[in-house]
Amino acid sequence: MTAAASLLVVDIGQLVTGDPRLPAPGVIEDAVLVASGDRIVYAGPASGFDVPFGPETVEVDARGAAVIPGFVDAHTHLVWLGDRSEEYALRAAGASYEEVAARGGGIRSTVAVTAAGTVEELVEAARERARRMLRLGTTTVEVKSGYGQSHEAELRQLQAARTVGAERKVPDVVTTYLPLHGPVDGDREEYLEGVLREGLPAAAHLAGYVDCFCETEAWSVDECERLLRAGRGHGLRPKVHAEQRSRSGGAALAARLKAISADHLEHADDEDLRALAAAGVTGVLLPGASLVLGGPPPPGRRLLEAGTTIALATDCNPGTCWCESMPLMVSLGVATAGLTPAQALLAATAGGAAALGLADRGRLLPGLRCDALVLETANWLDVAYHLGANPVARVISAGRVVGAP
Ligand code: NIG
Ligand code: FE
Repeated sequence: MTAAASLLVVDIGQLVTGDPRLPAPGVIEDAVLVASGDRIVYAGPASGFDVPFGPETVEVDARGAAVIPGFVDAHTHLVWLGDRSEEYALRAAGASYEEVAARGGGIRSTVAVTAAGTVEELVEAARERARRMLRLGTTTVEVKSGYGQSHEAELRQLQAARTVGAERKVPDVVTTYLPLHGPVDGDREEYLEGVLREGLPAAAHLAGYVDCFCETEAWSVDECERLLRAGRGHGLRPKVHAEQRSRSGGAALAARLKAISADHLEHADDEDLRALAAAGVTGVLLPGASLVLGGPPPPGRRLLEAGTTIALATDCNPGTCWCESMPLMVSLGVATAGLTPAQALLAATAGGAAALGLADRGRLLPGLRCDALVLETANWLDVAYHLGANPVARVISAGRVVGAP
C-alpha cells in the first residue's frame, strides 16, 4: 500500500519528468504529482493515479499549467561583500578581465572586503541572493568559498553558506571549499601548504566538495592536483574551474582525477571533451559568465556529442556574472551553447544534480525528492523562450509549497 499523500498537485497540463525512458524532456500530459513527506510517490497521468489522501493532504491546483523539476544550480560564489560595478563598466569600455585584475581589481578586490566581514554580514548578503534564487525556481544551490584566502575567512564563508541554507525560503544549500581562487599576498607555496595542512581538515566539516581555479593566470595544474588529491583524502569530492580563459590543462586534470565536474570549458578542445566523457565527469556550462566576458561560448553541443553529461549553472558572483536566474541560463544555453530547449532544461535540473553527485533529485520520478515548480504558463518551452522572465508561479521544495514569487 502506498504511503498517504501529503501534497497533491492536480490539473497539470504538461508534467516535465526528466524520465530518460521518455523522449526528452519526459513530458506527460494531463498529469498529477503526489508527494508523501519529502518524496514523490506518484508522477504520471491523472487517470492512473491511485494514492490515498485525506483532510491533511495539501492540494495545489496547477490550472493546466506546466510543472517542471526544481532547478539545481551547481556552480555559484554566492557569499560575497562589496560590488564590482565599476569594474563591469570598465570592461564594457574595453578593459579585459585580466587587465582589471592586474590593476588591483578582480577577485582580489572582492577578497579584500569579504575577508573582513563577520559571519553575520556574510549571511545577510548571501540570504538576499538565495531568496531571489528560490523565487526564480532554484531548489538546490551549490555555494563556494573563495573570497577568504585566509583559512579563517574561507571557513567563515562556508559557515555563512550553511547558516543561510538552514533558513526557510531559500534553496537547499551544498558547500564547496575553493581555497585556490584569486592571487594570494605572500608566498603561494606556503599558502598552499597551509591549505593542505590546516584548511582541508577544517573545511571537511563544512563542505562536501573541493574546487580550484586552474588557469595560467591563477593556479597551475600541479598546484590544483595537489589540492584535489589531498581533498579527496578528507572526503571532499573534486571540482575544477577548467579552460575558462585559456586552455590550461584543467579538463585533463579533472578527467585524470575523475572529478565530479569540470566547469566553464570555453577553451577546451575535442580531446578534452572526450576525456571528460570517458572519465564520467559532468561538464558544467556557465553561459552568463562567458556572455559577460566575451570570448567563445560554452561548448554545450560539443560536450553532448562527445557523450558527456552536462549541467547549466549561473556562476553567480560579483565579477563575471551577477545573476541568480536559472531560467535565464536555460535561455542562454539554447541561444549561445547550441542546446535544444529540452537539453537545456535537463541540464539545469538533472544535469545540475549530476554535477553535485546528488542522486535523489533533479527529475520528477517516484522515490526522488519532490522539488518542483508550477509554471505561470501551460508550455514548458516558455522557460527557454521567454528571455529574462520569471516563469515560476509556485515553488515546491522537499514536498512543501515554499514560495510564490
Ligand atoms: O567562475 N573563474 C573564477 N571565478 C569566477 C569569477 C570570480 C570573480 O571574478 O570574482 C568565475 O567566473
Ligand atoms: Fe566560478
